Amino acid sequence: MRRATVLNYIGLIASLNFASVVGGQVSVVTPSANLVPAAGDNSPASAEPSMATLLSEGEKIAQPTCLVCHGQNGAGGVGPALRQNVANSEGVVRMLLIGGGQMPPIGEKFTDREIAAVVTYVRNSWGNQFGVVSLSDAAIYRKSASVQ
Ligand code: HEC
Repeated sequence: MRRATVLNYIGLIASLNFASVVGGQVSVVTPSANLVPAAGDNSPASAEPSMATLLSEGEKIAQPTCLVCHGQNGAGGVGPALRQNVANSEGVVRMLLIGGGQMPPIGEKFTDREIAAVVTYVRNSWGNQFGVVSLSDAAIYRKSASVQ
């Protein structure tokens, strides 16, 4: 059992150290500090997904859905830089659900899992290290934004 736990932990760390090549530049996605070794992908279905899982799902959403306006590498474009401006997790979720002056409510059809994934991704990429936004966080923020 002890050995299996150690192996799970090593697998988790290995899966977090992925790098992506974007526009000729290599950006390494750095994991945030609050990793829980026990939270591997073989946890029960009812459990929150691991940070590694959210990051990989979030990257797939952010690339086509957000970075087209917000620029590669969090640098900014039509929309402001996402390597800044994402410290307030509830604010990011509200922006996705409600939109802003120019930003469409692009996340209004997203599931809680999709919200958790993309918000975790932008808050933990390009040097950001703000930690996980969980499925239950996403559900709470959705409720307080009054978007059911
Ligand atoms: C059509 C272009 C567009 C798309 C697509 C888009 N955004 Fe935006 N976003 C903007 C603009 C423009 C703003 C600036 C506020 C405004 O004018 O609404 C903004 C603002 C924001 C802010 C607030 C930044 C601040 O200064 O506080 C966040 C966070 C954000 N967007 C995240 C995202 C995420 C995450 C996605 C993808 C799921 C996304 N945006 C998709 C254009 C876009």
